[in-house]
Amino acid sequence: MNTGPTIIKRGGFISFEGPEGCGKSTQGRILADRIKAKGYSVVCTREPGGTRTGELIREILQHDKAGEALVPEAEMLLFLASRAQLVRQVILPALESGTWVISDRFMDSTVAYQGYGRGFDPERIMDFNKFAVGAVVPDLTLLLDLEVKEGFARMAERNRRTGVAHDRMERESVDFHERMRQGYLALARRMPDRIRVVGAARSPEIVSEEIWKVVSDVLDCAHE
Ligand SMILES: Nc1ncnc2c1ncn2[C@@H]1O[C@H](COP(=O)(O)OP(=O)(O)OP(=O)(O)O)[C@@H](O)[C@H]1O
Ligand SMILES: [Mg+2]
Repeated sequence: MNTGPTIIKRGGFISFEGPEGCGKSTQGRILADRIKAKGYSVVCTREPGGTRTGELIREILQHDKAGEALVPEAEMLLFLASRAQLVRQVILPALESGTWVISDRFMDSTVAYQGYGRGFDPERIMDFNKFAVGAVVPDLTLLLDLEVKEGFARMAERNRRTGVAHDRMERESVDFHERMRQGYLALARRMPDRIRVVGAARSPEIVSEEIWKVVSDVLDCAHE
């Protein structure tokens, strides 16, 4: 976030990105605990969602709540609406009060899914994102990279265990998910300072150790 010439003490903002089942929620929880253990307060949020408005939008997006097929343009704008609300209602106030924010998905998901996945121009989505987030961009984005078939296997296992049906995105084709994965990797090549790729095919413990190393390198809190 550009805070201008005055240095304002604020919390760090970390987003988790990556395909379905790559371990974003698992690793987000572990990282939040580690940052809390350093004495910081942490707010965890998720996209779409994280506010009452956003959670209602999530129901429409993930579970066809409106009972009709969403056109791709409306889908994209709903993600952006959820994000705009989350930024101003939750993320910015938290950061300004010195609280850390960890978001399970954020702006890069829209570029990967609606851009590379659905075929909208990624540059255009980045412009829409700027409108939605203003200056609130993550300090660090952890892209958990995983082969599509491995992500599908994890989702199937989790959904079997929890008895939850696949959501709309999970029902998309393997090709869609492959394009999305490559899109994420292209974003990481384009913004290597912000987006760090972490191989997610290893055990949760090993992945979390690597994440902590990256966070320690990039953000001050972990040095203290
Ligand atoms: N490193 C790992 N190795 C094997 N299984 C894992 C690993 N990390 C998480 N899992 C399991 O894979 C499933 C998906 O993990 P998780 O829910 O954290 O992923 P996610 O990226 O948040 O998925 P989604 O995009 O669907 O929200 C869970 O059942 C979880 O226990
Ligand atoms: Mg998750």
